[in-house]
Amino acid sequence: MSPQPTPVFPADFVWGAATAAYQIEGAAREDGRGESVWDRFAVTPGKVRNGDTAAVACDFYHRYPEDIALMRELGLDAFRFSISWPRIVPAGSGPVNQAGLDFYDRLVDELLAEGIQPYATLFHWDTPQALEDAGGWTERATAERFVEYADAVSRRLGDRVGHWITHNEPWVVAWLGYAWGEHAPGRTSGADAIAASHHLLLSHGWAVDVLRRNAPNAQVGITLNLAHVDAASDSPEDQAAAREVDGNGNRWFLDPIFRGEYPADMLEAYGPASVPVRDGDMEAISVPIDFLGVNNYFRHVVGASANGEGPRLVRDPEAQVTDMGWEVYPQGLYQLLLRVAAEYSPPAMYITENGAAFGDVRVHDGRVHDPERQEYIRSHLDAVGRAAERGVPVNGYFVWSFLDNFEWAHGYSKRFGIVYVDYPTQERVPKDSFYWYRDFIAAQRPIVRPSLAAPVVGVS
Ligand code: FCB
Repeated sequence: MSPQPTPVFPADFVWGAATAAYQIEGAAREDGRGESVWDRFAVTPGKVRNGDTAAVACDFYHRYPEDIALMRELGLDAFRFSISWPRIVPAGSGPVNQAGLDFYDRLVDELLAEGIQPYATLFHWDTPQALEDAGGWTERATAERFVEYADAVSRRLGDRVGHWITHNEPWVVAWLGYAWGEHAPGRTSGADAIAASHHLLLSHGWAVDVLRRNAPNAQVGITLNLAHVDAASDSPEDQAAAREVDGNGNRWFLDPIFRGEYPADMLEAYGPASVPVRDGDMEAISVPIDFLGVNNYFRHVVGASANGEGPRLVRDPEAQVTDMGWEVYPQGLYQLLLRVAAEYSPPAMYITENGAAFGDVRVHDGRVHDPERQEYIRSHLDAVGRAAERGVPVNGYFVWSFLDNFEWAHGYSKRFGIVYVDYPTQERVPKDSFYWYRDFIAAQRPIVRPSLAAPVVGVS
């Protein structure tokens, strides 16, 4: 347990919760939505556990008013959601589907009516299948299509959405999707992953310009999955292995965004010719942003493998792990925030995702008791608050996730929500962590006292 008391958060710190379109919306064939790579991947035998798909998911598409009422009960300042690209441009290029835009229009208006700020992510992994058929993110043309989509969305919502996130975790799309085949589109080529990562970054830079034009008062950023990396020992081999994991996961994205160049050691490792960079690309990628979104769940402990086949992840047998097998290590988030602030100086940061899956069950009293998740969130908030006290410009925290949802290749088997979803009935059951977070947020709010300077009535 970390020492009490809880650090003091800045008065204007943003308290949020996060989700993503494919994981919660359902309504996969409604109102003109096109097919995404995840629709295709999920129905490919053997790709998603239990054959689960997100055709219905949490049915958020229809139930969002009820869910927003729960957000209000929670006391959220902000809700992070993503926009489904295939709802807006069903064929990946060509006509814009007004019915798709209408849904987000209603969602944003409802959030604002309840006093909750919308934080919109443009891309949380659901590439239109038509674009994948034409080569997907290994093609530069996909970056061009993304910018057209960003334009259509921000023309409609730019007057009301004050915070935009271009991409969510490009590392995951590139490596899990294109190199390791664990995510859609399920390719297994390292060269494809490197090309995909460059085009994702390029499309981010181009989209920032479009967002600034269509939403001049908005804050614009990108979300990366970042993790603190520890070497398993002081040996030069383990140190080098840790540096490689850091280079692949953290620096490959942070360096181009904040310094306009790929890290030299990784370029050498991948082969400089492997990245399809053209003139002007690095300037486009390093366009100034207003904030960096940080998603963090764990740290890595890395050693060299005995046979010299690159880095290997080492597991501390004593460590507490979540239902994902991820180590619970809040100090890693603290170290990560200090390091990113010191080395890259982002103007602001938000924790756009942090949370944990545990094997929740609804018990005889009808409730879901999740003390491990509560302690996970508490200890990670403690880390964030301590970083803020050290001067790190971290402006908000979004718990992952508001609802239990479709956890990608794990299907519905992993529950990350602070609200339990009973999938057969779609009933929502706030977990104990929901009530804890509600009380925590309430305790952070500045206390409004009657002003002592108020005029005294009746004295002349
Ligand atoms: C992140 C994803 C999010 C969710 C969490 C558990 O990598 O951005 O959609 O799956 O992990």
